[in-house]
Amino acid sequence: MALQIEESTASAAATPSKYNPELEQIEIELLLEGIYQHYGFDFRSYAYASIRRRLWKRIEAEGLSTISALQDRVLHDSDLMERLLLDLSINVTAMFRDPGFYRVFRDVVVPTLRTYPFIRIWHAGCATGEEVYSMAILLEEEGLYERSRIYATDINEVVLQKAKSGIFPIERMQEYTENYIAAGGKRSFSDYYIAKYDGALFNPSLTKNVVFSQHNLVTDRSFSEFNVILCRNVLIYFDKTLQARVLTLFYDSLAMFGVLSLGSKESLRFSPYEECYEQINGREKVYRKVR
Ligand SMILES: C[S@@+](CC[C@H](N)C(=O)[O-])C[C@H]1O[C@@H](n2cnc3c(N)ncnc32)[C@H](O)[C@@H]1O
Repeated sequence: MALQIEESTASAAATPSKYNPELEQIEIELLLEGIYQHYGFDFRSYAYASIRRRLWKRIEAEGLSTISALQDRVLHDSDLMERLLLDLSINVTAMFRDPGFYRVFRDVVVPTLRTYPFIRIWHAGCATGEEVYSMAILLEEEGLYERSRIYATDINEVVLQKAKSGIFPIERMQEYTENYIAAGGKRSFSDYYIAKYDGALFNPSLTKNVVFSQHNLVTDRSFSEFNVILCRNVLIYFDKTLQARVLTLFYDSLAMFGVLSLGSKESLRFSPYEECYEQINGREKVYRKVR
């Protein structure tokens, strides 16, 4: 499949003469600028190779053949923008993804949270919400859910609607049960959902302290002060400059001694904020703000 995309990329970008990567980059930059100016979604500083691959995937799916043709269509068709947004925002996720992270959270972060009268948590880039439900379950089992407020945000309204519904694919429950056990889960995972609407409907009590809201990490500001910020597997799609900007947003939004968690392939190393945090767990990318 990837090969096919590369082939069609080559043939399409070859119009009218030879494939020209510099020209292709100009077309992509113009397209992203147009999307930003018209719709306000700013993908201009996302990692280029990944954006390019996804644009070509959408060009193929729409039966188009050039970046400029996509630009022409997307600027006049907001439904196409919605489809493109789904392509560009990559919503892959799972419950208790990286179980080791949840173990560290339970063993090292929860004891500190117990000392707080009220706990504010921000899941930035929560996609369809699986990690939010995982955190709610963990906090519930640790007796902390009642005094927690979870803010779950994403750029993409479509995935947030799925998150709010609390319905997840039933065929993934086996995988999630294994993750839950590996994450140190204390009950039976099936206690949390019932089979309904061809899916697994999670107990609505898990979201009674959750606020789902659209928030763009590139263009929107901080909206509160948090004890914990989780932004896992999002920065990986941004270039270095944008990563630094988003890390500033997190630094400004985190209370002193608050906890920041990134994805397994992301890190604070070599970022302007490396010195401002101590590492709670290097492997699971869990940090505490100390200055
Ligand atoms: C790969 S998912 C990660 C989901 C979850 N955090 C996890 O680790 O399983 C990346 C999410 O980041 C969101 N995202 C991408 N750019 C964003 C932005 N500028 N602001 C907010 N969310 C964004 C995407 O919509 C997507 O849902």
